[in-house]
This record gives sequence, structure tokens and C-alpha cells, in this order.
Amino acid sequence: MENTKTTANKKEIIIQRLNLLLADYQIYYQNLRGFHWNLEGRYFFQLHDKFEELYGEASETIDDLAERIRSLGGTPLHAFDDYFQKAQLNAAKNVSDGEQAVQIALKNSQVLLFHLKEILTVANEQKEEGTLQLIGDLIVTTEKRIWMLKSFLV
Ligand SMILES: [Fe+2]
Repeated sequence: MENTKTTANKKEIIIQRLNLLLADYQIYYQNLRGFHWNLEGRYFFQLHDKFEELYGEASETIDDLAERIRSLGGTPLHAFDDYFQKAQLNAAKNVSDGEQAVQIALKNSQVLLFHLKEILTVANEQKEEGTLQLIGDLIVTTEKRIWMLKSFLV
């Protein structure tokens, strides 16, 4: 049987990973809002609506990740400076071209998927079932989104 200290350390590792993911999701979310606001061109109506849908999903995911961190006894990152410091994604600025926006959303999603799979491996090693389920569901929706964004770009 594991001692209490070992269990605490394992939870801490998951909390740290989830916080890094949260930081990346915040950048991804804000990128989507920028696309929703700033796009121009023939796909405006289509993409304006699509990016609103995507940032709505991202917002729910952000809340789920933060509340998972709380459920594990941690504190979710909640300040912009922490997000910038921890995130691997870059802020997209002044993007008005629809195709460029979709390409960035695709690349962001691929990075998120990579991190989701890393966390899945860690959660699996540590038999952290709640995180496994949350991350497993996010992998499904992220892979679906990647397929759709790629399909737009063909
Ligand atoms: Fe709007």
C-alpha cells in the first residue's frame, strides 16, 4: 500500500501538468476570440460563427480543467502573467485572413492534443481515473476538431 506522501506527490504531478494545459487552453481560447472579432473576407459569416462555437467549447474545457485541479486539491492558474509564462502556444495577433486563422487553430489544436496525450500517459501510470476520463474525452473532441479544420484547408 502506498504511503500518503507518495500519493500526494503523484497528485502534485497531475496538478502541474493540468495547469500547463490550462495555460495553453487560455491562449488557444483568446486566439479564437481574436479570429471571431477580426476576420474579413468571403468566409466571414461561416468562420465568425465557427470560431464563436470553438471558443465556447474552449471556455467550458478551461472550466473543467480548473475544477479538476481544485478537485485534486490544487490551485488553478488564473492570472494572465502565469498563463504567458507557462503556455507553449503563442498569442496570434492581427489575423484577419480566414485560412490563416484556421491554420493557427489547427496547429494550436495539434499542440493541445500532444499535451493531452502526455497527461493521459501520466494519469494512466498513476491510476488517476477522474483525470483519465476528462482527458480521454478531450482527446476525442480535439481529434474531431483537427479532422474538421484539416478538411476546411484541403
Ligand atoms: Fe461575438
